[in-house]
Amino acid sequence: MSDSPGATPADAAGDLAGRHFVLGLTGGVACYKAAELTRELVKAGATVQVVMTEAAEQFITAVTMQALSNRAVYTSPWDARAPNNMAHINLTREADAVLVAPASADFIAKLAQGRADDLLSLACLARPIGRCALLVAPAMNREMWAHPATQRNVAQVVADGAVVLGPASGDQACGEVGDGRMLEPDEIRDDVIAFFQPKVLAGRKVLVTAGPTYEPIDPVRGVTNLSSGKMGFAIARAAAEAGAEVTLVAGPVALPTPRGVARLDVRTAQQMHDAVLPLAPGHDVFVATAAVADWRPAQAAERKLKKADGHDAPTIAMAANPDILAAVARLPNAPYCVGFAAESHDLAKHARDKRVRKGVPLVVGNLGPATFGRDDNTLLLVDAQGEREMGPGTKLALARALVREIAQRLPVKDTA
Ligand code: C5P
Repeated sequence: MSDSPGATPADAAGDLAGRHFVLGLTGGVACYKAAELTRELVKAGATVQVVMTEAAEQFITAVTMQALSNRAVYTSPWDARAPNNMAHINLTREADAVLVAPASADFIAKLAQGRADDLLSLACLARPIGRCALLVAPAMNREMWAHPATQRNVAQVVADGAVVLGPASGDQACGEVGDGRMLEPDEIRDDVIAFFQPKVLAGRKVLVTAGPTYEPIDPVRGVTNLSSGKMGFAIARAAAEAGAEVTLVAGPVALPTPRGVARLDVRTAQQMHDAVLPLAPGHDVFVATAAVADWRPAQAAERKLKKADGHDAPTIAMAANPDILAAVARLPNAPYCVGFAAESHDLAKHARDKRVRKGVPLVVGNLGPATFGRDDNTLLLVDAQGEREMGPGTKLALARALVREIAQRLPVKDTA
């Protein structure tokens, strides 16, 4: 399992169920990552038919790719296995996408020109363009990537309908550092999963808070809670997958940032408030998933409180934290606000009360002790019309369903 910083470790099992890919490998050191990518796609439920160019075969063997994909690899347009001898046509007829990873500079040039002198470029050109996507993950030296010819070719393949994944920046096999590295396999997997999600929030800006807050008592102690941040991170990911521009304001959690999400880390409720309030008016949606501490020690001690023999435990005076959600909801140009209610009992009643008290159109209730730290949850959606249960399910599946519910409730965007 790779551990690239941008990828979500959440189990992608089933996210690509029923999808079929032609995975094209072209010449490049990044071919070694295509082996892991095949595993990731298969683990996510996809079927994968590997096609390799002659140059790709210099970097990794068809034996490895066959074993990982569980299908014989295609390398030649003259492969007589297909009864009609037309592998270049047959290959894409059942495919949801051709994914070229790694895509060399030369192969992108071929795509840009519509050339078809090997099986993979033939298959790309012969694919049913309306129902079989072309996803391209470039991998090359930074000078090759930055060259005007490559940039021209990339712009052309995008204009022709291809989707370019990456490239990433960093250490390159040649020893140089810069743009052109292929994305890591789990990043490509997550981008591919996102590609197939309905773009119900395209053109929208979504602000999400997530995780607990931490309110210091002294430099080594503090008040916090058991929120893991998983639900909020799943919502940020689902909103980004749905095409939104997402900002995630996160309390102290050790979770990776979902792909394509801008993240701001904060510690205290006051910091979260100060980060969120100026951002909120520029957003269409605000989802307050964070478990914000209601109170903080009124005065955090500058030095560690010491335990003096024979003395009673200290009494810590508490002060109320600002209510971020209520403050955002009161803004004159408030985004569509979604609150969360983590309760231990009487969920529906508390969620209904909270919706009115905070002045927000939608509150999502969940049972805190049953879901804190877990990957699954059950949600109760409470709005002016009534309430509806969603789940149980994984937090990511529920987040995607919630994003669709939110999208349906948004006012039509004035594009004039
Ligand atoms: O007030 P209570 O904590 O019960 O409400 C929970 C909802 O309000 C959540 O959406 C939470 O993110 C938000 N909240 C907030 N600021 C606070 C307390 C809660 O934004 N200080």
